[in-house]
Amino acid sequence: MKEQLQTFLEIATEAALAGGTELQNYLGKIEDSIVEKGRPGDLVTAADKASEAIILDIFSRHLPQHAILSEESGELGNQNNKYLWAIDPLDGTTNFAHQYPAFAVSIGLLIDGIPAVGVIYDPFHNELFRAAKDLGATCDKQSLMPETYPHKIRVSQNSELSKSLLVTGFAYDRRETSDNNYAEFCHFTHLTQGVRRSGSASLDLAYVACGRVDGYWERGISPWDMAAGIIILRESGGKVTAYDNSPLNISSGRILATNGYIHNAVSQELMNTPPLSTWGKH
Ligand code: IPD
Ligand code: CA
Ligand code: CA
Repeated sequence: MKEQLQTFLEIATEAALAGGTELQNYLGKIEDSIVEKGRPGDLVTAADKASEAIILDIFSRHLPQHAILSEESGELGNQNNKYLWAIDPLDGTTNFAHQYPAFAVSIGLLIDGIPAVGVIYDPFHNELFRAAKDLGATCDKQSLMPETYPHKIRVSQNSELSKSLLVTGFAYDRRETSDNNYAEFCHFTHLTQGVRRSGSASLDLAYVACGRVDGYWERGISPWDMAAGIIILRESGGKVTAYDNSPLNISSGRILATNGYIHNAVSQELMNTPPLSTWGKH
């Protein structure tokens, strides 16, 4: 099993690096190809498509029997297959379109619905986050501080919410629903040292995994946003659940991911977030 996971990890790495190279090539050159997919702000570009094409080509050559759920192409193969790859060829398209350096390729393998292999590649910073079940999690960064990489990553050890730095995001349906995470954002901004909004869910999870932030929550995200990050975070010692601390359903659109130490506290506050009208009064 370990050898098989290692093989899957190598294939996912090849695909993520190839997709990331496409993103590097397209950065700053996509202005004519930016299209809104449906909701305002939900963009797709030539870079998303080029990255996805090369990733899918690598999977079709190495693992043609596996199923795929990829953001731009949708469901490929039998989705009830034991092996399902959840792929986001460009996580952080809005950032990419603005040349804001927070975007990544995210590739995660679900085995019987459970994340088992994950690769997140940030081509701008040349950081490669990887993990497989029971094999640990690493971050490789070739360009900076080569003597310290590759190395195992671990979550932070902070156990106090008041000393935490958190990260979150806002889904594309935020203008259509009052369940848009604005109240939670204000609430945690008061309770912690700060809340960041990076615009790349996969990097948010990777940053919890390597201890740069202590926790992450978000609603309105998809399996391709979180599959890779979940296994990378679990292998880094972190905890991933639903908001209410119950087991995560990867299709629910909601995730709470922390270093484990602040998990109960974040869950409790998420479940008891005061309405926005009380902002600033607690
Ligand atoms: C988005 C990013 C963002 C999150 C959105 C996602 P995309 O993915 O991960 O951080 O807040 O909900 O849809 O559209 O850039 O692949
Ligand atoms: Ca995404
Ligand atoms: Ca995407």
